[in-house]
Amino acid sequence: MAEKKVIAVVGATGAQGGGVVRAILADPGGGFTARALTRDVNSDSAKALAQLGAEVVQADIDDEASLERAFAGAYGAFCVTFFWAHFSPDTEIAQAGNMARAAKSAGVEHVIWSTLDDMRQWVPLTDDRMPTLGGRWKVPHFDGKAEANHLFTDAGVPTTFLQTSFYWENLIYFGMGPQRGEDGTLAITFPMGDRKFPAIAAADIGKCAYGVFKRGGELIGKTVSIAGDHPTCAQMAASLTKALGEEVRYNEVPPDVYRSFGFPGADDLGNMFQVMRDFEPEFSAPRDLDAARALNPELKTFDDWLAENASRIPLG
Ligand SMILES: NC(=O)c1ccc[n+]([C@@H]2O[C@H](COP(=O)([O-])OP(=O)(O)OC[C@H]3O[C@@H](n4cnc5c(N)ncnc54)[C@H](OP(=O)(O)O)[C@@H]3O)[C@@H](O)[C@H]2O)c1
Repeated sequence: MAEKKVIAVVGATGAQGGGVVRAILADPGGGFTARALTRDVNSDSAKALAQLGAEVVQADIDDEASLERAFAGAYGAFCVTFFWAHFSPDTEIAQAGNMARAAKSAGVEHVIWSTLDDMRQWVPLTDDRMPTLGGRWKVPHFDGKAEANHLFTDAGVPTTFLQTSFYWENLIYFGMGPQRGEDGTLAITFPMGDRKFPAIAAADIGKCAYGVFKRGGELIGKTVSIAGDHPTCAQMAASLTKALGEEVRYNEVPPDVYRSFGFPGADDLGNMFQVMRDFEPEFSAPRDLDAARALNPELKTFDDWLAENASRIPLG
């Protein structure tokens, strides 16, 4: 039997990378094996990956030499940055550069770069319908990733650009689940009007990425945009009502109000939702559900995700 191809996975103890590792390990006959990168090989989550059968190695995306060592001998690499750990697009760009150069020197044959759309293609900095943030960005956690795309191409790394979507897990971990209003009724609050809100189960990002690796070189040089479903917020509220057995309303707010909520990143997310709302066809259409399902036949809809996760959503 041919030797298995190693996929080095950045962020392996996290949502996206963890999904990639588990997708590879769930398919022992698939011809690939997972190398999990972590800053701490002794953490409980790193040990759990080793127990599942992953090779676990130390690397920090701030440290190019550590990435070169971790990528050595790998056929593929899944590369992701961690905006919410520092809120800096410039840091993401620097880290993407480290990963691109390390992949090139290690001779990696296929990189998947987990990126996002440059929202400035639809709302340029001169457009004052929303504030410019940090002098250069409309949606910092999107625009910085998009600005880093060329670093992979410039380094000569065979790359697939994977444009992901909002995770429904944000309803569990990011305080975006239903909250009780003054009248005691639960509501989800988004500035999305009646537009489609493309999103995905976090684990499906990893499964789609694995699907990209399984296609061989077919998707190198291509942008692949993924989502698991495109419900409106009113449809999400209806699904939540059914899954929780209690009425959940959609509390539609204007983007300005969302930006003023004051939690860290509220301005970034307010701008993000506003672009998704105002440029819905442009944002949603590339996130074609059939194409994502072709990469990952287990792709979950919002209702599928709720069937497994509704009981984990904290009700505020
Ligand atoms: N939340 C969403 O809805 C959403 C949607 C689309 C895209 N995104 C993007 O997804 C990215 C985050 O991915 P995620 O959700 O998979 O992250 P995550 O679940 O927060 O995972 C972070 C993992 O990355 C590792 N890590 C952190 N800093 C590192 C460093 N300097 N070097 C190496 N590893 C490091 C940590 O592992 P160790 O401690 O083991 O090293 C940690 O377990 C963000 O950039 C965000 O913009 C998020």
